[in-house]
Amino acid sequence: MENVLYSVMEKEYPEVDYGDGMYLYDTTGKKYLDCAAGIAVVNIGHGVKEVAERIAEQAGKVSFVYGGTFTSKARRELAEKIIEMAPEGMDKVFLCSGGSEAMESLLKIARQYYIEKGKKEKYKIISRWQSYHGNTMGTLALGGRPSWREKYEVYFPNSMLHISPCNCYRCPYNLQEESCDCQCACELERIIKYEGPETVAAFVIEPITGTTSAAIIPPAKYMKKVKEICEKYDVLFCVDEVITGFGRTGLNFAVDHYQIVPDLMGVAKGLGSGYVPIGGVIVHKKIVDAITNGSGALTHSFTFSGNPLACAGAKEVLDYIEKKQLIEKCRKMGNLFLEKLQILKKYPVVGDIRGIGLLLGVEFVRNNKGKEPITNFNFSEKVVKYCFEKGVILTSGVSGSADGIVGDALQIAPPFIIEEEEIDFVVALLEEAIYKTMEQSEI
Ligand SMILES: Cc1ncc(COP(=O)(O)O)c(C=O)c1O
Repeated sequence: MENVLYSVMEKEYPEVDYGDGMYLYDTTGKKYLDCAAGIAVVNIGHGVKEVAERIAEQAGKVSFVYGGTFTSKARRELAEKIIEMAPEGMDKVFLCSGGSEAMESLLKIARQYYIEKGKKEKYKIISRWQSYHGNTMGTLALGGRPSWREKYEVYFPNSMLHISPCNCYRCPYNLQEESCDCQCACELERIIKYEGPETVAAFVIEPITGTTSAAIIPPAKYMKKVKEICEKYDVLFCVDEVITGFGRTGLNFAVDHYQIVPDLMGVAKGLGSGYVPIGGVIVHKKIVDAITNGSGALTHSFTFSGNPLACAGAKEVLDYIEKKQLIEKCRKMGNLFLEKLQILKKYPVVGDIRGIGLLLGVEFVRNNKGKEPITNFNFSEKVVKYCFEKGVILTSGVSGSADGIVGDALQIAPPFIIEEEEIDFVVALLEEAIYKTMEQSEI
């Protein structure tokens, strides 16, 4: 254990023993209610026997073949199931092992599309500040989390450009959602024009944001507008559904809330529900056709792309979600959770409570009569630590939810199997944690 290079050297990590449904148990016997699903991963809950058995069965048959040599029934069936769930027009899936690989692959497929179309000069990628797309060099450059980017900026290409996020609680233009004309979306059109539409390949967004800003939901008019701008300038509309995909927001994908069909969609996390490491890029038919009718080959692959073991596990996860109607359950429990969380508004440090499905966020401020962020104290970290000690797992935000630099929010993203009593327990504990942290911080 001492040979493990942990990301926080001083921290004492409890050793997990096993998981069962909503709960994790460590080797001292302590029980934890996993209200974070790991990190928005374990959508079906821990210890599902059907999935474990299917993985064992596949491992007994064949667990690895190189995807460049063989296909497998497991790989074909998983791809078929994913396309069945994806928006109309999405046609094929490239499989890989996680979210960062998925988003790297997405960028490469976007670039290859324009090369196939004879538009080699289209290479720039536009994304948004306060978003997260992964931790490899390419995806860090794509993402908009300054604190995670700054050490590595020296390696970033100058082809990745960023615009303001859409955050109606903290509108970058100080406008009101009801009356605004989405200046933050107009920024996309401006940057495309400045750079020259003939140089821009793709716009990449988290449709509903994850951990960086904790569940910010753009209004439908924003999504409609950015999609139209992409179409107008022949720019691919690409979504990062690594956290939101496969039911987390109460529908199959976050784009389904907007009835939007993207060109490329990156997925991971809930696809394998933590039972297998897996990710993928879901590709629109127009891109598949361009590659098929062009070079006929994707200039991209990974050793573990589409390995049978991961595919078998993920397919069983998706079947389980369907059989147990877990996406419907996520929608229902998400509404209930959001409603019950409103009680926290009575605390002056609670600025915003938001989210959809079981991707929920609580943003902390100095005093909710205004929206001034807390800058001298990591409030969410203290709240999350308190809850953890009492046996409930939540996720504290990376500082920056307000403007990219400051701002503090926590994320709640339990497995879809959560029950009402568990929600009540978590809300009551959160109240206690907020109260105690307020006392401690003298806010
Ligand atoms: C929206 C989003 N994209 C990409 C990633 C990167 O995924 P991974 O950590 O599996 O590489 C994450 C991970 O949290 C994410 O939330």
